[in-house]
Amino acid sequence: MKMKIRKAVIPAAGLGTRVLPATKAMPKEMLAIVDKPAIQYIVEEAAKSGIEDICIILSRGKHVVEDHFDRSPELEDHLLKKGKREVYDEVVGISQLANITYVRQQEAKGLGSAVLCAKPFVGEEPFAVLYGDDVIMGKDPVCRQLIEQYERHGLGCLGMKEVPFDQVTRYSSLKVDPLSGNVYRVSDMVEKPQTPEQAFSNFSILGRCILPPGIFQILESLPVGAGGEYQLTDAMKVLAREEGMIGVDFVGTRYDMGNKLGIMQAAVETAVNHPEIGREFRDYLREFVRTL
Ligand code: UTP
Repeated sequence: MKMKIRKAVIPAAGLGTRVLPATKAMPKEMLAIVDKPAIQYIVEEAAKSGIEDICIILSRGKHVVEDHFDRSPELEDHLLKKGKREVYDEVVGISQLANITYVRQQEAKGLGSAVLCAKPFVGEEPFAVLYGDDVIMGKDPVCRQLIEQYERHGLGCLGMKEVPFDQVTRYSSLKVDPLSGNVYRVSDMVEKPQTPEQAFSNFSILGRCILPPGIFQILESLPVGAGGEYQLTDAMKVLAREEGMIGVDFVGTRYDMGNKLGIMQAAVETAVNHPEIGREFRDYLREFVRTL
């Protein structure tokens, strides 16, 4: 039976080793894209998609994420006294985006084990997963694009995009058959194929999925996968083989906040359209590009 998707899990407990030393004491999910932390974009996407309850998976040293989505009475008072009503509204608005609960993943053993930590929160309903370091921008929230396909097909859904063939070994690879438009049937997958020959296609899972609660049973007996971690892809592979999944070649621009290039692309592309600094930044960028 299809159920409404009300809950989302945002895993944000990884070590972020590809962005050290920035991530030694600061979670990569809190790195700002101009003036807003990455994870706020993700929570906003979930809220715009109709999600009411969010569980963020954290680990030691990541309490700043909780502080960010909490009220901040001293700061709020200060802003009101200074007459900065607009910023005040923005700051208070952050704490009202959704009902957020936090769960700790004790050891960074992989995305699969992070999602498993949300089992008591999720219960017996299908739910969305938004990877905490994948910011996807666009008019139509990608989480909603996936929920629509879940409602249509009643199967687990995943966001996917084509990646360059020579880089597929860094990603997952999906076995897909076209259904209609940007929607595909997914029947198999492999996480980080060791050689390009082991890949099914250059379609890779990127950043978002909708999963049935049955995924937890699969995760509980999952063997360790690529990189010595419990891989969510390995659990989705069981789903895809047993009942099939739906792949959505989503509309939106994805920024990987887990690597340095992605962080810079997100900053530059957001800055050029920013209402406050956009014009000045574009002028600066034009001048700067001439010096390259
Ligand atoms: P990544 O594999 O990109 O995160 O996971 P990582 O392990 O932090 O990366 P590196 O290789 O060390 O740089 C994607 C998302 O899943 C979360 C991460 O925080 C990130 O948002 N994650 C990953 C967890 O919550 N727990 C884990 O054990 C691993």
